[in-house]
Amino acid sequence: MQLKLKLTVVAAIAAVAGMASAQEQVVKIGHVAPVSGAQAHYGKDNENGARMAVEDLNAQGVTIGGKKIKFELQGEDDAADPKQGTAAAQKLCDSKVAGVVGHLNSGTTIPAAKVYNDCGIPHITGAATNPNLTKPGYKTTHRIIATDNSLGAGLAAYAAETLKLKTVAVVDDRTAYGQGVADVFKKVAQAKGMKVVDEQFTHDKATDFMAILTAIKAKKPDAIFFGGMDPQAGPMLRQMEQLGMADVKYFGGDGVCTSEIAKLAAGAKTLTNVICAEGGASLAKMPGGMEWKKRYDAKYPGQFQVYSPYTYDATMLLVDAMKRANSVDPKVYTPEIRKSNFKGVTASIAFEDNGEMKNPAITLYKYVDGKKTPLN
Ligand code: ALA
Repeated sequence: MQLKLKLTVVAAIAAVAGMASAQEQVVKIGHVAPVSGAQAHYGKDNENGARMAVEDLNAQGVTIGGKKIKFELQGEDDAADPKQGTAAAQKLCDSKVAGVVGHLNSGTTIPAAKVYNDCGIPHITGAATNPNLTKPGYKTTHRIIATDNSLGAGLAAYAAETLKLKTVAVVDDRTAYGQGVADVFKKVAQAKGMKVVDEQFTHDKATDFMAILTAIKAKKPDAIFFGGMDPQAGPMLRQMEQLGMADVKYFGGDGVCTSEIAKLAAGAKTLTNVICAEGGASLAKMPGGMEWKKRYDAKYPGQFQVYSPYTYDATMLLVDAMKRANSVDPKVYTPEIRKSNFKGVTASIAFEDNGEMKNPAITLYKYVDGKKTPLN
């Protein structure tokens, strides 16, 4: 008799628990970036930003379509490799994530964008800057930072007009990003009267630039522009110092504008010659930048690089669109992303028809005592 009563109670509890879980829905959000290899520090920073957003959303409690939503982050590694990028994108499609934050590199984001378009899942990048990303006109592609057109032009204007430099050598890593940002810089610098005295090419696994730099040194440029990432820029700065190129300014886009570059330059004084550009406001000028950064540093000490506030906003923005659509179904909520008017940590975010952000800021930086410091 007693046993029967116990079983009845257990069954009743199970039924209530079942009802509660039926009202809760798990929604997966994908994140992709290189979290292995020489660019892992960028990728981990990005993933941290998305994870922090998911934790904040779950702590707040989000109800969509009458159901309490539990968000889960599915983190994938594309190793900054275009092929691995499309494979990771396909994996996220197959996992039926509701949306994707990524990728980091233009070289992976551009081919992955087609995969997301084909499977009908929206993605938002807070890091890839090549303008070609939005050219195919996919309804699923969005970017919440400025493109290389702004970064390259801003840097060229600073070199030619503010610093009044006359000559530059241009180096790029032959990736979609490196080549693209270098081309824009070159064109704008030339239009502003600068002379491109040398052009050299490397790749995104190289660490020895002595031959390239020796050739450049012979042309005595006022500056080098490097289109590429910090695992190359750091050693390049060290080797410039070894070659006595201490007075040559060093320009680069957001790929070199990291905290890590100070470590990778390993004390080379040439770090003070770096001027880099990022496609957003400085943390101090972002609506919620400083307070957010404090929370980030408490959660992920020493891991901040560049883009985590943007991957945080990208995640929040996906969920904002789901809320407005009252649906977590990508078919239903994707059109709402384009109509966003989202007050993020980084900016107020709204989109052009092609998925580019409206009026993104750019900020130039230099390094003072090894610390990235805004110039504007
Ligand atoms: N902005 C860099 C790129 O597009 C990270 O690859």
